[in-house]
Amino acid sequence: MTPSSADTELKARHRKMWASGDYPSMVETFLLPLGARLVDAAGIGAGMRVLDVAAGTGNASIVAAQRGAQVTASDLTPELLAAGRARAQSEGVELEWVEADAENLPFDDGSYDVVMSSIGAMFAPHHEDVADELVRVCRPGGTIALLSWTPEGMIGALFRTMGPFAPPPPPGAQPPPLWGSEDHVRELFGDRVEWRTLERDNLEITAFEHPRDYGEHFKGLYGPTIAARNNAVKNGQDAEFDEALNKFPEEWNLGTEDDARFEQEYLVAVGTRA
Ligand SMILES: C[S@@+](CC[C@H](N)C(=O)[O-])C[C@H]1O[C@@H](n2cnc3c(N)ncnc32)[C@H](O)[C@@H]1O
Repeated sequence: MTPSSADTELKARHRKMWASGDYPSMVETFLLPLGARLVDAAGIGAGMRVLDVAAGTGNASIVAAQRGAQVTASDLTPELLAAGRARAQSEGVELEWVEADAENLPFDDGSYDVVMSSIGAMFAPHHEDVADELVRVCRPGGTIALLSWTPEGMIGALFRTMGPFAPPPPPGAQPPPLWGSEDHVRELFGDRVEWRTLERDNLEITAFEHPRDYGEHFKGLYGPTIAARNNAVKNGQDAEFDEALNKFPEEWNLGTEDDARFEQEYLVAVGTRA
């Protein structure tokens, strides 16, 4: 399918947003456990053909390659793929890195044994298009494995906090954390996937001393937070935005004032493609 010029322009904005800040350093600071969590849940082993969609710097892809799988890491943002390639090189594993939109994947029907995405495909705006593509490129009997932030968890709440400040979503877009809802996943895939696992878990985060450091980290490094803040600045709402981003981690802190601890809830969905 040839994308419309509006879609090309939208994806260029998304690419720029994800290249802003420093997502690779967020992965190193607290997101690394998610890659192995998804690869384990998907049962990835030697010789399997694996596609990681919205792979970023290869958090899940590199673990899959270390398990002996034949891995393609795909993502919209070439800057993140370049960082992933460098990481893979330093880890001594080989995989293929391909620039690709999750809503329009440049891969043949049924060409992978496992199609996975760790907090990745959930950020493409049109959920049904993504689900169609994940199913299309997975072979019948193959595995689809997704790890997504939940609407009720901390990142769902972060997106609700940032929402009023962010630029308006494009037509037809659905909020990313919906992918963390069991009902939404069942509805998106219908009878095309039989879910073997639909379970919630928490990523524990102890990397920040003070709760406010969490908000500062996101303001400096996380593309969606940077985009929302830029829009707030444009609308003269930067003070309100900063106040909201200061209050937010205070409310979610499970530790103390000098030893913050957070839990970010996610859904792991693993199923067999019909
Ligand atoms: C939160 S990061 C997750 C990256 C990686 N999977 C991980 O576990 O660290 C979200 C990723 O989604 C990618 N992304 C956003 N929209 C996309 C789209 N339409 N198609 C493919 N990738 C997309 C971004 O470039 C970014 O790498």
